[in-house]
Amino acid sequence: REQQVKQQISLLDQACQFYRQQLRQSDSRDKAVNYLKQRGLSSDIAARFLIGYAPPGWDNLLQHFKALPNAAEALEKAGMVIHNTEKNRHYDRFRDRIMFPIRDMRGRVIAFGGRVLTDEKPKYLNSPETDTFHKSRELYGLYEARQHNRQLDRLLIVEGYMDVVGLAQHGIQWAVATLGTATTEQHLTRLFKLVPELIFCFDGDQAGRKAAQRALEIAMPILEDGKSVRFLFLPEGEDPDSLIRKEGQPAFEQRILTATPLSTFFFNSLTADSQLDSMDDRARLAASALPPIREMKPGLLQQMMLERISEMTGLSIDQLNSLVNLHQISQP
Ligand code: GTP
Ligand code: MN
Ligand code: MN
Ligand code: MN
Ligand code: MN
Repeated sequence: REQQVKQQISLLDQACQFYRQQLRQSDSRDKAVNYLKQRGLSSDIAARFLIGYAPPGWDNLLQHFKALPNAAEALEKAGMVIHNTEKNRHYDRFRDRIMFPIRDMRGRVIAFGGRVLTDEKPKYLNSPETDTFHKSRELYGLYEARQHNRQLDRLLIVEGYMDVVGLAQHGIQWAVATLGTATTEQHLTRLFKLVPELIFCFDGDQAGRKAAQRALEIAMPILEDGKSVRFLFLPEGEDPDSLIRKEGQPAFEQRILTATPLSTFFFNSLTADSQLDSMDDRARLAASALPPIREMKPGLLQQMMLERISEMTGLSIDQLNSLVNLHQISQP
């Protein structure tokens, strides 16, 4: 099995080099290079992220490996080739796409994301889960961020490949992206082993705001005193890449300074559509606030949030504490 993993890693590394080379040498390199230019990327940043190009055609990658025994099967296992069992044909998964290699913490290429150069769909394709690639664990850009700075004190969590790369292009080299999946507990636990502060910065759209809400729920039980989670909300229609291109690094960093702390976001979303005029309103508020607060690690932040609930509802801290500790409130 170890031998298989080794072979797979080696295949993916060679595939990555092939796509890099195609960006320089393929017949259709011009449109790929122009695409990257039009997105504002320098060759320096493209090199740092090993960005490449999968040319059009069904079997460029397969042909590249034709000297390798069982190439089709090995590439299929690595997620790079698709097997059409009806026609018993193998063909390249990524065709005519800009290729973003996903590296693990040691810098080994373990998967790819590929973007079309037009507005066709699907816009992005990702490698499937393989022996070496687990979407719910990996983060795009983490290796590159750590390469750039070993003593990171915070990380920005964004939605997409182009957000990571676009931010890096403008001097913000500490962004990572989840890979087309929602943020998981595994992601956050992993990142908090590396840095004390995480800042979520999702797209300024309905999906982005929903992702932030979900990230809040995932982060609350993980957060400890000494660690912090904040949320940076972007103007409607913008994502980190589009906004930093428009505004530049200083303005974007100014926004980061004003990112919303987790507790503020929590109370804002709690009270967004509720009045606190009646006893009934206040009871409802306490009932929905207490379960997530109860899930938090015991500590100062949890106590301070309880104090806030106490101010809002008129329930005493002792009452709230016993409600939290006795597990008396059921999920609303
Ligand atoms: P650009 O148009 O290149 O700027 O992409 P974007 O990253 O801004 O796109 P979007 O906000 O729509 O998506 C964010 C991330 O979700 C992408 O980077 C992908 O990881 C993922 N994603 C978007 N579209 C697709 C898709 O069609 N299929 C899959 N599997 N993932 C997608
Ligand atoms: Mn096969
Ligand atoms: Mn989006
Ligand atoms: Mn974008
Ligand atoms: Mn986006």
